[in-house]
Amino acid sequence: MTFPIIIDTDPGVDDAMAIAFAIAHPEIELAGITTVFGNVSADQATANALALLETFGAEQVPVAKGAAVPLIQTPFPHPDFVHGKDGLGNIDIKPAAKHAAVSESAAQFIVDKANELKGELTLVAIGPLTNVALALRLDPELPSKLKQLVIMGGAVDEPGNVSPLAEANFLSDPHSADIVMGSGAKVVVVGLDVTHRVILTDTSLRQLRDSAGDTGKLIWDASRFYVNYYSNVGAASGLEEPGCCMHDAAAVAYVVAPDLFDVICGPARVIPEGIGAGQLTINRKGYTYLLKHWENRSPVTVCMEVKDKELVDLFLQAICDGSLR
Ligand code: BDR
Ligand code: CA
Repeated sequence: MTFPIIIDTDPGVDDAMAIAFAIAHPEIELAGITTVFGNVSADQATANALALLETFGAEQVPVAKGAAVPLIQTPFPHPDFVHGKDGLGNIDIKPAAKHAAVSESAAQFIVDKANELKGELTLVAIGPLTNVALALRLDPELPSKLKQLVIMGGAVDEPGNVSPLAEANFLSDPHSADIVMGSGAKVVVVGLDVTHRVILTDTSLRQLRDSAGDTGKLIWDASRFYVNYYSNVGAASGLEEPGCCMHDAAAVAYVVAPDLFDVICGPARVIPEGIGAGQLTINRKGYTYLLKHWENRSPVTVCMEVKDKELVDLFLQAICDGSLR
């Protein structure tokens, strides 16, 4: 079975890992990359996506540039203290001049691919959800045309990474995140509740460097800055060995290995403004509440537990020795 996917992304060190995994896994067909502001500007995200595809030997994959700012709120500064100024740990790669993004916008590209693939397309969104909200605006029928919409974002029970309540992708555009949660698409959220449990140690990253050619070397180089952040202040701090979260790669892995996750389901809202902005909330028990904001929304699926070691193995196996091919 093959899963055609679009990755909507703001590369990003863990975004690079996600793209590498998608290219390497034999059951995934990467039908396109759409870019969005987030870890870096939309321009830098697009340049990074093109350069990553070249390094990973997949320059035939089309890239469409997307939103430069959130739907409504004023953008936050890019988190250069996590991903570096260039978004890839300050390794400063650039796409070859002959490669460029397609002329369609990211939102249009998503709508067109969904129409072309007639219910087979999985959209994996691993940045702020602005492009997805814009695609829904272009085509309100989009939810029924997607096989699945897998999202890296949000935190339900787990503390956030940009506030005690919020995860970075959702806080970067909470209005879009809330629109997407209420869209009626078959949404699966792979958020911090699981991604904070999946740690790539330097031992694993070294394995990539030593046995996955240019792809492994790039991931190793880019991860030096990111590992330093995660080992000191992020979710991997206090561990025996330096390491980092593979957030976005876990969302791509869900497409081919959903059995590695335990989930809850229910109507969901993302708090759009105020002190709790960006928080993902879910009526997981189906209670009838005084406040009706969760009513009349289709349920979404949220991952809450993960077989972390199996997931890391799957990631390494796909990229390292190509043994899944
Ligand atoms: C998410 O935020 C970004 O920094 C990462 O690339 C990932 O998509 C994790 O909260
Ligand atoms: Ca990302």
